[in-house]
Amino acid sequence: MRGRRRGNGRPAPQVEETPREVLGVPARLEVPAFPSYNPPTRAKIELGRHLFYEKRLSANQTQSCASCHVQEMAFADGKRTPAGSTGQTLVRNSQGLQNVAYFSTLTWAHNGMLELEDQLPVPIRNDNPVELGVTDGVREEVLARFDGDPLYKRLFAEAFPESDGATVEKIIFALASFSRTMVSADSPFDRYAAGDKSALDERQRRGLALFNSERFECFHCHNGTNLTISYRDESTTPATITFPFFNNGLYNVGGDGSYPPHDQGLYNLTLDPDDRGLFRPPSLRNVAVTAPYMHDGSIETLREVVEHYAAGGRVIATGPFAGDGRTSPLKSGLIRGFGATDEEIDDVIAFLESLTDRTFIENPKFSNPFVGAGP
Ligand code: HEC
Ligand code: HEC
Repeated sequence: MRGRRRGNGRPAPQVEETPREVLGVPARLEVPAFPSYNPPTRAKIELGRHLFYEKRLSANQTQSCASCHVQEMAFADGKRTPAGSTGQTLVRNSQGLQNVAYFSTLTWAHNGMLELEDQLPVPIRNDNPVELGVTDGVREEVLARFDGDPLYKRLFAEAFPESDGATVEKIIFALASFSRTMVSADSPFDRYAAGDKSALDERQRRGLALFNSERFECFHCHNGTNLTISYRDESTTPATITFPFFNNGLYNVGGDGSYPPHDQGLYNLTLDPDDRGLFRPPSLRNVAVTAPYMHDGSIETLREVVEHYAAGGRVIATGPFAGDGRTSPLKSGLIRGFGATDEEIDDVIAFLESLTDRTFIENPKFSNPFVGAGP
């Protein structure tokens, strides 16, 4: 095993591998960016995979990352919004994690979260709402669980040979490295784009053309290899990076463009009234297996999503969040609404289904190392 320590405790001779090889990025995709202070290594990835499935990483030992990020659902969780390890409900829908290393910003709506190393402290340490709940008061207790376990003693030593013992920073660096390996590039859509014209059937090809049409407008916000314009890779520079966020007309509380007060997207950070309802366009890879949809999981099916766009916004007739999203003053100019037949909507859904990558969903590299035939 490359870079691993041998039984005699001395490092094996290093074989120089490229980040593309270490991360397992196929030729079809660019290599994702990673911060210079945390270059990926096979040993960090291996540790990260174990930690991702490790319930002892939550204060009360009931939850792991995989509680809210389930491989069969492309690492979303099928819930409208999940609950953390102490039962507290989160306000946002769990995101799928394929190709997460390629977003220009992380999470549904944050313009300052640019690296996984910045984002992962949130689920690990947050106390309101609690996710894994590793707050300062229990940190040493949680770390002692790893220092006292022979498997983790070895995995931490291999991943971080320069110092002994588990730390929260090492946990974050390992999980970030593992997350960067979660690459999806083998859906029918990928095979079609690579030249296999039979990979999409006729309906899916019609749906792709509609998706990329000026009538449907989808491609303006969902394009490129991940079907989102929130994108960067190792060659993106400060001059070329963009940080897109849009208001989709899902809400128009009070007629002034507001979203429900507990989550107004980017506004919650910036407090700029124009930022109400701004969210990052998500990747649409594997979208057919990640229902329900949108930042709050408030749309159940892909058909309802496409109908929402066709209507040019959502009408909520009654209740505290009533309002006509179609007339929101803050809605993106690209959400105008369009005429579409039922058959055309079916075609777009068939296209979205062609983004499901079974190779990714079933890849043993990302599965729970503690069960089954994992390597
Ligand atoms: C209690 C459920 C829960 C747990 C536990 C959890 N997550 Fe998440 N995760 C979410 C939710 C919800 C979001 C969206 C957060 C937001 O937009 O504010 C998210 C977002 C993310 C993102 C950003 C995805 C993107 O598209 O930008 C990453 C990466 C991530 N989680 C990885 C992890 C890892 C690694 C762990 C374990 C340390 C973890 N999560 C634990 C629910 C959870
Ligand atoms: C103006 C930019 C924009 C356009 C145009 C657009 N989208 Fe979106 N899309 C977004 C944003 C932003 C979100 C997340 C909104 C939220 O959660 O509040 C989203 C969410 C989605 C989701 C939910 C994904 C998930 O994981 O929850 C789907 C599916 C989707 N869009 C498909 C489409 C289709 C199909 C079209 C064309 C009919 C389209 N989008 C047009 C920006 C856009």
